[in-house]
Amino acid sequence: MHRLLHLAAAAALALAPALHAADKAPVNAGPYVPSPTSVVADMLKLAEVGSKDFVIDLGSGDGRIVLTAAKVFGAHGFGVDINEKLVKEANEAAKQQGIADRASFSTQDLFKTDISKATVLTMYLLPNTVNMLKDKLLTELNPGTRVISHDYPLSGWIPEKYVQMDLEDKVAISGVTTTLIYLYMVPAKAEGDWTAKLPASLSKAPVPLALRQQITRLSGAARIGGRDVLLEEARLRGERISFRLALGSKSYEFTGVVKGKSIEGTVADVGGGTRGAWSAKRP
Ligand SMILES: C[S@@+](CC[C@H](N)C(=O)[O-])C[C@H]1O[C@@H](n2cnc3c(N)ncnc32)[C@H](O)[C@@H]1O
Repeated sequence: MHRLLHLAAAAALALAPALHAADKAPVNAGPYVPSPTSVVADMLKLAEVGSKDFVIDLGSGDGRIVLTAAKVFGAHGFGVDINEKLVKEANEAAKQQGIADRASFSTQDLFKTDISKATVLTMYLLPNTVNMLKDKLLTELNPGTRVISHDYPLSGWIPEKYVQMDLEDKVAISGVTTTLIYLYMVPAKAEGDWTAKLPASLSKAPVPLALRQQITRLSGAARIGGRDVLLEEARLRGERISFRLALGSKSYEFTGVVKGKSIEGTVADVGGGTRGAWSAKRP
């Protein structure tokens, strides 16, 4: 989208703050440039969209992402756009395709849209807009929600996956064939000072577990037997947490699910062997 974005959006964005302040007009998050149909399919496949999903497209244009999610992948969803004409077109297409009960569109500012229902959130917006949305995504979306961004990454977030391909269609849009699709998963809030209960063979006493989190990055230490043992290979994927602890001559693999103020999971000797339950609570 570079070439078009830089022309259309530079003008729009230059005006946007003034408009925003003066009459609360929505910030222009990007000009209308539809994702090529093959990219729409790839975005939805990368997110593994299925019939249980609720897909929200921020800046939905002619509605192609939510329409395809409903028609081909059986999902429900909605799209929002500030362009009334495109919203009308998208709703008419949903009616024509017989999927208006599963795909709808409204004229709305994407920055003010309630996105809490999404299990999959898609966007093809300006790079700075994608990043302006980071706090909204973290606050409003449930842990585990998949976020798909066409071409522009969320800085500081580690993608679960990304694909890069060359598409001739993109030359007219971006001036280059390169196309990127990023898949992120909204992380649970694991940061904090937890108290863990481990199998008695590892610790009879409660174990202080300090978890530090920077968006999708996790690190920390467990205090066992009077010393701090650093977490190795710590990962957070939505609500799922995993890390390793080296205790004595052995290494243990911890996996679990973070739900609010508790973690429940299992611990196993690396390389097979004994399994047991572990849990943690925080105030
Ligand atoms: C690059 S197009 C993407 C269209 C569609 N999502 C796709 O991938 O084919 C970006 C869309 O965002 C819309 N848009 C820009 N700012 C917006 C805002 N503040 N609220 C809602 N939509 C907005 C534009 O009208 C445009 O249709």
